[in-house]
Amino acid sequence: MIILGIETSCDETAAALVDDQRRVLAQRLLSQHAEHRPYGGVVPEIAARAHLDHLDGLIAGTLADAGVTLADVDGIAATGGPGLIGGVIVGVMTAKALSVATGKPFLAVNHLEAHALTARLSDAVAFPYLLLLVSGGHCQLLIVRGVGDYRRLGTTIDDAAGECLDKAAKMMGLGHPGGPALERAAVGGDPARFALPRPLRGRPGCDLSFSGLKTAVRQVLDRLPPGPLSARDRADLAASVQQAVTDVLVERGARAMALFVEETAGGAEAPAPALVVAGGVAANGTLRAALDVLCADRGFRFVAPPLALCTDNAAMVAWAGLERLRLGRTESLDFRPRPRWPL
Ligand code: KG4
Ligand code: ZN
Repeated sequence: MIILGIETSCDETAAALVDDQRRVLAQRLLSQHAEHRPYGGVVPEIAARAHLDHLDGLIAGTLADAGVTLADVDGIAATGGPGLIGGVIVGVMTAKALSVATGKPFLAVNHLEAHALTARLSDAVAFPYLLLLVSGGHCQLLIVRGVGDYRRLGTTIDDAAGECLDKAAKMMGLGHPGGPALERAAVGGDPARFALPRPLRGRPGCDLSFSGLKTAVRQVLDRLPPGPLSARDRADLAASVQQAVTDVLVERGARAMALFVEETAGGAEAPAPALVVAGGVAANGTLRAALDVLCADRGFRFVAPPLALCTDNAAMVAWAGLERLRLGRTESLDFRPRPRWPL
């Protein structure tokens, strides 16, 4: 079984072919970072037009790279939401058109589900597993019980972790996208130099919060000399922000682990539970290292997909489409792109 996946929900235009042996046969991805950089964030109209300009060529190139044609493909999957609606429409309409032209089933994939199931493509993780989904738009802890079967343990009550990193980076003049820029700036910095809050620490439940952290960064910047940051201040503040976000995710993740064990308690022979990270922020090295330590401490297997599968990509969309097709969960051509689509 071979599935073509299409991703256009944010600022990455991507196509990929994945098969049921968990192989990524080919993938092509075009980032629009340069187009959005002058605006310090993603501009929806620019994104939608760029997807329209490039998607056809990326799909043709991906098929050529894999040496297959649409006749060899068993289904066509596109991100159907949530995301910037102009871009989602471009991907969905393209997939529907290919579906009509070839007679192959159309699969509408929830972008969050695609992130959630990636670890089954990269690491063949079995259900159920605990998922920390941390991206620019979403920040959640979930039990993934099966395809389309999720139990949300906690979610952010304000900003997503990636949004917080992006905004902090923007205030610090580090550019867009902020997360990777902040990680680079933090190298050699002192993560204890600035005392930043750890919102909701010690509170019951698994909800998360990051807006207080963002405000605290603003206050630190207001106390520092005006003008561009010195190299020392930049590195120390970047490291402090990165550490604060990491600490919040680790503390909330630890609570979710306890809940997961309670809810899924298997017999003595049950395999070690797994914590999977997904979403763009999961590309962060400091966060990965801290989660690795947490998992070792709690007897969890830590599963972190390769970086290219953590940030937005089409292989994860193709894989989620494949999992859906195997269960017969195709979508009719009446499907309407969904700007909001909770898991
Ligand atoms: O999953 P993703 O590619 O797009 C969304 O669905 O949101 O996630 C993008 C987010 C952005 O906030 C970006 O700054 C963050 O992931 N990000 C990182 C890193 N790479 C991407 N944050 C921290 N460290 C990174 N290395
Ligand atoms: Zn994403």
